Amino acid sequence: MKKIAIMTTGGDCSGLNTAIQRIVAGANLRGWDVYGILDGTDGLMGNVPDIIKLDLNTIPTAAMHLAGSFLNNGHPGKRMNFEGALEQGKLAHFNKQLRKSLQELKFDALILIGGNGSISLAWYTREIYSDLQLICIPKTIDMDIPFTERTIGFSTAVQQLTSYCDQLLLTARSHHRWFVVQTMGRDCGHLALNAGVAIGARVILIPEIKFDIDRVIEHVKKSSLDYGIIMVAEGVSLRGHSGKPADIVSRKLNAAGIVNRTAYPEHIQRAGDTTAEDRLLATKMADCALRAIENNETYVMTAYNNNVCHTVGLSDVMTSGDCEYDPNIEGLQVSNSYVESDNPLLEIAYNMGIYLGEHK
Ligand code: F6P
Repeated sequence: MKKIAIMTTGGDCSGLNTAIQRIVAGANLRGWDVYGILDGTDGLMGNVPDIIKLDLNTIPTAAMHLAGSFLNNGHPGKRMNFEGALEQGKLAHFNKQLRKSLQELKFDALILIGGNGSISLAWYTREIYSDLQLICIPKTIDMDIPFTERTIGFSTAVQQLTSYCDQLLLTARSHHRWFVVQTMGRDCGHLALNAGVAIGARVILIPEIKFDIDRVIEHVKKSSLDYGIIMVAEGVSLRGHSGKPADIVSRKLNAAGIVNRTAYPEHIQRAGDTTAEDRLLATKMADCALRAIENNETYVMTAYNNNVCHTVGLSDVMTSGDCEYDPNIEGLQVSNSYVESDNPLLEIAYNMGIYLGEHK
């Protein structure tokens, strides 16, 4: 019989609860005990660990579609995660306490559901997890983790943005005006691109593609409609300007006589009922993580490629994609993936008359 733990770290997204619930279902079937660590690494910082035993009564099937994390992601302010410890100059204490708690709890395996920041940090401090099997599951609405075509939370975020823009389009049409919608996604444009294509945006601006604001204006003016959506990813920047990119684009459009408003869906993108696609992905990743534990794997991440879920070594994840070194921490490497120039959706968007910048 094994004793395993689950921890959710970093920002939340939809699909975390499905992953947690499915891990519990699959593990209990194998006769394993499952514990949830509360509030990410916060839960392991005290003298008494903040953990709960999980079963199908504590984590009901009927609730697994809900957004957020049953295990929580950390208290603001007192949050004791790697970054917090670093800022407070308590990194050595943090690492020591994390390792001590894990050793005392004697877990056979830890399933860490996190984004690329958390996964990179886990690899960087891998010594902490040397007494157990470390299995990571990638989750993020940004979909910026290398080696996997899908991350948990992305599908729901695209759906949330799609529904949000569907509503905006109705009021936009009534008032003959445009909406400049700023999406999340950090430095990665997948979210804006996918949602933008889904709602038929007139313009999609993503950090990976340079654009000319005069061409944006020209393209909006040439539209046969006098309303619509201009999708701007939060990672977009305009040379010589600072501030929110949607505000800047909106001001430029106004100055050119294009009546518009800005809209910020913000954390709605991380909430919402988990789509069936995200639930399936979370289920496949949960199953893959449990099989990895059975196969005695460690320091691996579950990945989804060509419709198959498999594991990939963390060392491979960390040395592929666009690797960058953290300027503040010697040796800490974060690996990111972005919208590649051969992404088929770019061509499709272009063929639908969407301005994407200097794509072609
Ligand atoms: O990485 C997920 C994400 O939602 C990004 O898209 C966004 O930039 C950021 O987190 C927002 O973080 P916070 O919830 O701390 O405002």
